[in-house]
Amino acid sequence: MLILWSALVAMSIAAGSQDLSPREHLSLDNNWRFHLGDDWPGAIRLDQVNVSSGPPSEVFNDDSWRSVNLPHDWAIELPFDRTADANHGFKPIGPGFVQNSVGWYRRTFDLLTSDVGKRIGLTFDGSFRDTTVWVNGWMVCRHEGGYDPFYEDITDVVRFGAKNTVVVRVDAARFEGWFYEGAGLYRHVWLEKTSPVAVAPDGLFVYTKFKHNVPARSGIVCVEANILNSSQRQTHAVVLCEIRSPEGRFVTSFQAAAKILANSHANVSLWTTLTDPVFWSPESPHLYTLTTQIKVDGMPADEVRNSFGVRTVAFDPEAGFLLNGKRYEIHGTCNHQDHAGVGVALPDALQYFRVAKLKEFGSNAIRTSHNPPAPELLDACDRLGMLVMDEIRLPGSNSQNMAKWDEQICRDRSHPCVVLWSIGNEERAVEDTPQAANVAAAMQRQANRLDPTRPVTYAAPEGDIFKGINSVIEVRGWNYNYGPDMDSYHTKHPNQPCIGSEQASVVGTRGVYENEYQKGYVGAYDDVWPGWSTTAESWWSFFAARPWLSGGFVWTGFDYRGEPTPYQWPCISSHFGILDTCGFPKDAFYYYKSCWTKSPVLHLLPHWNWPGKEGQVVRVDAYSNCRQVELFLNGRSLGRQATKPNSKLTWSVKYEAGTLVAKGFDEAGRLAIETKEETTGEPVRVQLKPDRSLISADGSDVCVFTVSALDAEGRPVPTASNKIEFAIQGEGKILGVGNGDPTCHDPDTFVAEAKPIWSRGLFNGLAELIVQSTRRAGTIRLTATSQGLASAEAVVQTRASERSR
Ligand code: GAL
Repeated sequence: MLILWSALVAMSIAAGSQDLSPREHLSLDNNWRFHLGDDWPGAIRLDQVNVSSGPPSEVFNDDSWRSVNLPHDWAIELPFDRTADANHGFKPIGPGFVQNSVGWYRRTFDLLTSDVGKRIGLTFDGSFRDTTVWVNGWMVCRHEGGYDPFYEDITDVVRFGAKNTVVVRVDAARFEGWFYEGAGLYRHVWLEKTSPVAVAPDGLFVYTKFKHNVPARSGIVCVEANILNSSQRQTHAVVLCEIRSPEGRFVTSFQAAAKILANSHANVSLWTTLTDPVFWSPESPHLYTLTTQIKVDGMPADEVRNSFGVRTVAFDPEAGFLLNGKRYEIHGTCNHQDHAGVGVALPDALQYFRVAKLKEFGSNAIRTSHNPPAPELLDACDRLGMLVMDEIRLPGSNSQNMAKWDEQICRDRSHPCVVLWSIGNEERAVEDTPQAANVAAAMQRQANRLDPTRPVTYAAPEGDIFKGINSVIEVRGWNYNYGPDMDSYHTKHPNQPCIGSEQASVVGTRGVYENEYQKGYVGAYDDVWPGWSTTAESWWSFFAARPWLSGGFVWTGFDYRGEPTPYQWPCISSHFGILDTCGFPKDAFYYYKSCWTKSPVLHLLPHWNWPGKEGQVVRVDAYSNCRQVELFLNGRSLGRQATKPNSKLTWSVKYEAGTLVAKGFDEAGRLAIETKEETTGEPVRVQLKPDRSLISADGSDVCVFTVSALDAEGRPVPTASNKIEFAIQGEGKILGVGNGDPTCHDPDTFVAEAKPIWSRGLFNGLAELIVQSTRRAGTIRLTATSQGLASAEAVVQTRASERSR
């Protein structure tokens, strides 16, 4: 929408210049009314600017619509349907399911009379997929694309000192990917209020520079501020920056002045020297704070706060990835935004939960496959320490795609976690053509112009081919194709850095050790993989031996809905994850942990509950970074074996119930670690474990409960499948439930009006429940009951504005 001013607003701006207040960034997540179905086909009118009927109209009565809060994914609420698309998780939405593919959202918001003179805008962090927005009956925006953020200035059509109505129609009839994509307002929506002279949306870029891109005692902090002047008169603005250390100590301040023409904007560049900085890394994610204030006529007009990290990144053709001047192996995973219980509508706390889970096995990088991430994922990566390869959905140098690329870069470029931009993934039909080279070069030039600190890559699914995109891209991405092709490519193109943009794709179901085609399960021994991919052990052994490869990204960190490879119905989610859809570790977790962390790791698989298999041979594997491992069954040694780096050990063991013990020894022959798998008894009681005992009473924070069943000796039963029912009291509500079973068709969530009995069967001993706080501080009391088992209760406190991470 063009920035046009009504006479009233222009007058108030002039008056308001004496009393300009800093910006407000207000959540519009709560209190929406929602309707599924496109019952008003004529609502998007092209013959008149305003609408007086149907949901976009202010007078429309939405009393019969149900209440929802954002983030919201209506696809997760739909039942499974075997006629629906397998790659989208058999949810009846998209092509062929018109009735489920359009959703309407309505809510109101108030503006104060004291807001007169401010610019008012709406930010959508992402909506799946095509979105039309009306404010007070005026169509203000039509946005195409399910992953990129969009902002709209709505000042001209709002009413101050009154109620305003915002209406959103989301059309998910077309897919954008080949994985579960959800539907609706699945990311946050914000109401923005700024003074007429203010930092433009995503208009602040802060980064650090060091001579030769090598850390030193002294570096430069650069700030680029894009200042908007929406008023009708030229203005003189002063930009004041203040830096505080990670501990909150004042470090320095600096400033610059700018003349900004009426109804225009100005780019202001500032810099300062920073001495003895503390550097950011995944291991020590120190964050500085930059506060930027804009003053007009000596009065504060705007203030924005950015955190930033001091660090250098580089990709070197021989040494691989360099972080802060040192070689740093990328231990990455590719991930879609999708989690048990909630679909793509992740509360912010779940982003943190997921990043923390990935870190548990030594992962230090995420590829946001295959689309721009939620801003909160980047916040979590900045704060918890996780590198990011930030990917756009599609390559394209057309104006629309370039505008999306610009927005993505401008939104994300101040995050220290982002170390690489990706222009796309596996565009097989075109990637080797000269036209694709043109497109890639254009996107790369634009990325370099907007961000001088990071290079650009492309996830290429091919071998020793230096054509099209590969011939121009700064960092050659390798999807699969590990082996001699990589070596010969590197020899022929010794000046192009390389990275494993996507590797592995080995399949395995958590807690399953035999392929069960009928049930749709794959044994998790790291020995089943589709034709294009390979095992964890083989890709990582290859990469670990070649420092120039920079490390790489496993497909995937978490399982996700859709792509049920190697199966079809009744399988509804993928088997690629190191973690399942809930974040429960599969055995691969320990393989990577043994390779990617330093302290002793020793993990045995399978579990030791095999009634009926007495006397039969069971394959026992150990993942360990010790020098030697000795295995014992019921006290008898089954032999000591020397480990090879990045490789598993295997024993063939005649099954008998009891205890399988493994001992790991270091290079001096000393016992470093011991682990065991015991044959358990039957489940006798339920166990509930919250991930945190205190969460924020802000109506959005969540607590993640792990549900399991214990035997009489208190041991978790790895094969338990008991159905558990949940009841909640106090200041929380259940958002969703899952168990990581890729063929389970039980609902993950219910619409609020349904007043459901929440339940889920354990899958190989585990289930997960996600509970969200209310806005009142107090206690959440969760009870889990199961027929024939002693029940469990867990209590979690909620406290006002407590960020207990
Ligand atoms: C890749 C693709 C991913 C996923 C994966 C499954 O080729 O980039 O999105 O489909 O295969 O192995």
